[in-house]
Amino acid sequence: MIEQLRVGFDNFSYVIYCLTQKKAAVVDPGFDVGKILYVLQSKNLELLSIILTHYHSDHTAETEHLKKMVPSALIVASEEDGRRLPVQPDIVVSDGDKLNVGSLVLSFLLTPGHTPGGICILVDQEALVTGDTLFIGDCGRTDLPGGNLETMFQTLQQKILPLPDDLIVYPGHDYGDKPFDSLGNQKRTNKTLRAKTLGDFSLIP
Ligand SMILES: [Fe+2]
Repeated sequence: MIEQLRVGFDNFSYVIYCLTQKKAAVVDPGFDVGKILYVLQSKNLELLSIILTHYHSDHTAETEHLKKMVPSALIVASEEDGRRLPVQPDIVVSDGDKLNVGSLVLSFLLTPGHTPGGICILVDQEALVTGDTLFIGDCGRTDLPGGNLETMFQTLQQKILPLPDDLIVYPGHDYGDKPFDSLGNQKRTNKTLRAKTLGDFSLIP
């Protein structure tokens, strides 16, 4: 199960949880940690991990606060973005690594482009939490420090497009015409996934 929480100005945080075993992971606690704690407490969930899709502060600023509230929760990030965080990750994940949350299996995809060590999280072959790699109708910007347009194009082509159409995409910001969408629909309508060449991709406004 995934709970999408709109936090800050237009960010999304997520609580990924297994209701039978009452275990949870939180993704990108950038703001409004009270909203996250409310979900955890109201569903009586044990927070096992705090997963950071990338190092930007609008996705990570409440990490230490949340860790203070639940000291046993482990901070999860990639090596590249983990070293850019103000906190030390407890678990460093690479492409293809897996993590259990109760009966759920989370698989990590290394998806650089927006940042050097951005990750996406595949939840049980049903959902794809994309951080700032993929938005509804767009992808993350590549003009910030550590961003790279060519790398983002390769990530979209080699990591995102091969994934199944029936996955539900849960992005890191509420930038689209809907808060989430099927990957199949995004493959058909998202200009950044429709671009066939790096040249086409680089011309997208
Ligand atoms: Fe970002």
